[in-house]
Amino acid sequence: MPHPFLEVLGMIPAELRRRPGKIRVPDVVTEREYDLVCIGSPTWWLSTNVPIRSFLQSEAASRVLKGKQFAAAVPCRRYWRHNLKTVKRLGAERGGVFIDGIHFRYQGGQVRSLLSLVSYLGSGEYRDRYLGIKIPPTNLQASHLQAAREFADALANRLLSSADTH
Ligand SMILES: Cc1cc2nc3c(=O)[nH]c(=O)nc-3n(C[C@H](O)[C@H](O)[C@H](O)COP(=O)(O)O)c2cc1C
Repeated sequence: MPHPFLEVLGMIPAELRRRPGKIRVPDVVTEREYDLVCIGSPTWWLSTNVPIRSFLQSEAASRVLKGKQFAAAVPCRRYWRHNLKTVKRLGAERGGVFIDGIHFRYQGGQVRSLLSLVSYLGSGEYRDRYLGIKIPPTNLQASHLQAAREFADALANRLLSSADTH
């Protein structure tokens, strides 16, 4: 991003309006039926990002989720609760059955995690310092990947054991 601060701040009006935006849903989403649907939902401005919110308010989401189990994964700097709650609510409104959720938080407190994300969005590089301040790495790290694998294993086991009992 050439102007990362402006572009990240520029999302605020769209986020606050809570209105769906124009999105394109890839064919793979609706071309077949799925036993389990996982929604990956990055937090933008404290809640669900506009593209995923828009998807969860769409006819395509009803087609995919109706009568199906779904799970959600939220990556964020710090704020995951409202986002996860929103995904759960909107997915249920589309007829999905929520089974589990996970969140991943970036390193650094409020200020350093933001500086680190903005530094990365602007440069595409992991830098040690930004605006003269020492910053931690942004984005998901190896420990998150491990947690994601364990979460996925648990979902798969749950699905297999519920299939066994039917
Ligand atoms: C426009 C924008 C707004 C963001 N707002 C927040 C926020 O309010 N709280 C938070 O914890 N993380 C926030 N983040 C960090 C994102 O949650 C994080 O970068 C995202 O989960 C990474 O997923 P992606 O690489 O698929 O975009 C924001 C990121 C962007 C780009």
